Amino acid sequence: MSRKRHYLWWQRGVVYQIYPRSFQDSNGDGVGDLPGIVQRLDYLRWLGVDAIWISPIYPSPMKDFGYDVADYRGIHPLFGSLDDFDRLTAEAHARGLKVILDFVPNHSSDQHAWFRESRASRDSAKRDWYLWRDPARNGGPPNNWLSNFGGPAWTFDEATGQYYYHAFLPEQPDLNWRNPEVVAAMLDVLRFWLERGVDGFRVDVIWHLIKDAHFRDNPENPEWTPGSHPFQAVLPVYTADRPEVHEVIAEMRRVFDEYEERVLIGEIYLPLERLVTYYGQNGSGAHLPFNFQLVLAPWDARHIAALIEEYEHALPPGGWPNWVLGNHDNHRIATRVGTAQARVAAMLLLTLRGTPTLYYGDEIGMRDVDIPPERIQDPFEKNVPGKGLGRDPERTPMQWDGSAGAGFSTAEPWLPLSVDYRAVNVEAERDDPSSMLSLNRRLLALRRGSPALEVGGFEPLEAEGDVLAYVRRAEDGAEAFLVALNLGSTAHRLDAAALAGVVAVSTHLDREGERVGGQIRLRPDEGLVIRLDP
Ligand code: GLC
Repeated sequence: MSRKRHYLWWQRGVVYQIYPRSFQDSNGDGVGDLPGIVQRLDYLRWLGVDAIWISPIYPSPMKDFGYDVADYRGIHPLFGSLDDFDRLTAEAHARGLKVILDFVPNHSSDQHAWFRESRASRDSAKRDWYLWRDPARNGGPPNNWLSNFGGPAWTFDEATGQYYYHAFLPEQPDLNWRNPEVVAAMLDVLRFWLERGVDGFRVDVIWHLIKDAHFRDNPENPEWTPGSHPFQAVLPVYTADRPEVHEVIAEMRRVFDEYEERVLIGEIYLPLERLVTYYGQNGSGAHLPFNFQLVLAPWDARHIAALIEEYEHALPPGGWPNWVLGNHDNHRIATRVGTAQARVAAMLLLTLRGTPTLYYGDEIGMRDVDIPPERIQDPFEKNVPGKGLGRDPERTPMQWDGSAGAGFSTAEPWLPLSVDYRAVNVEAERDDPSSMLSLNRRLLALRRGSPALEVGGFEPLEAEGDVLAYVRRAEDGAEAFLVALNLGSTAHRLDAAALAGVVAVSTHLDREGERVGGQIRLRPDEGLVIRLDP
């Protein structure tokens, strides 16, 4: 008799990303908070997700909205207190929901006590906790490294006569991960939260942690054209994805392994063949190096079919796949592909092999919001204006109902509400059997506990044109689904001669129970999940 493989919660489950400033305000200041999240846990349970990942909630001057951490062991008063956090964890766990925090190890805030001390003098005990270099001979920055948010990556400190490095804002100095004291201090931060019952971390820009030991100039990018993203003028050869980063991640991973079933998710924007190296050798890397291919890919069936296969083949033995469709740094899926295709995209995300991450609001079809110039918050948009790089549009308040503040807040929210919130909101959609929310909930319900959809194998099917098709089959073969997706706006037929079954979910939510087989009819923008006959 063969033993059944045991799968962990982060393999079977679905992750839901909460951008805490925009989820639920409980104290009427226009910004979301932890007690607000607690109020909405029953909704998340009802929706059918398994884990929440909360973007940073630590004390922060909010120059980069929490990705500039001033104290790794506290909670920003805007969001609540440590007691609120403990209550959130307890309430989530009581509902069977896991809690994943954001860990921002590459840089701290310039207001962190460590950086203040580092900056105080050249012989400060913490000088080497950050990356300080002498000016170049002409007095300029030590090399040509550029900030991801525009401008040079080096800022001169008058008082001590040296430059410090920051991959992002000057208010986000990079920590020196080659310094064992930094490593030890940061690993203790992880333990602090893991002891409190946190189930895992999403690690911010993990591929950035180590920079070239010799601070060599980055090569110029031959494909760069003036007017495009300034950061891309040089190739980040010496500033990211350095070989030694894997040693640091392995140390991090050992801390996770001190506890039971905690998940290490890494934020990594790299080409596939580089991305998969972040699984590490023999389980020494991230459990889930975030796979952003669906965020970055053109919405084209042939292209996506190819990238899924490429990903499946590139995974190392034991490497568990994962898929992301949206997050707080990218335009919303409903804006990228349109409202009709956003349904097809949801079906894709929730039926591919691997752990899906859902971005808050995408489940109801929220779209990017146009931000009037006077309400722009994101430093990226302020530094590099007018290129569509700003991230405010995808960070607007969650649309809970049709009341004045959309059920998000009784005050003016920190970012404007979408103009469509009276129609696109949880309350309106929850009672509408054909809504985007109903579709997501149906898909999540079908997936939950299904040996084919949660952990089964993936078999691509031949398809043409706009159609993307595959089979998900349980390990023991007892259950299988055919997923047929029309990524275009004209009708198609999928030739699936040997396959037949019953529609379990359709994107339009109007073909459930229909028998299909052989030539499968797909209407424009339609996707079907078909339970195949045994
Ligand atoms: C990551 C975060 C992004 C942040 C940046 C700097 O990419 O997702 O929001 O601005 O890191 O911390």
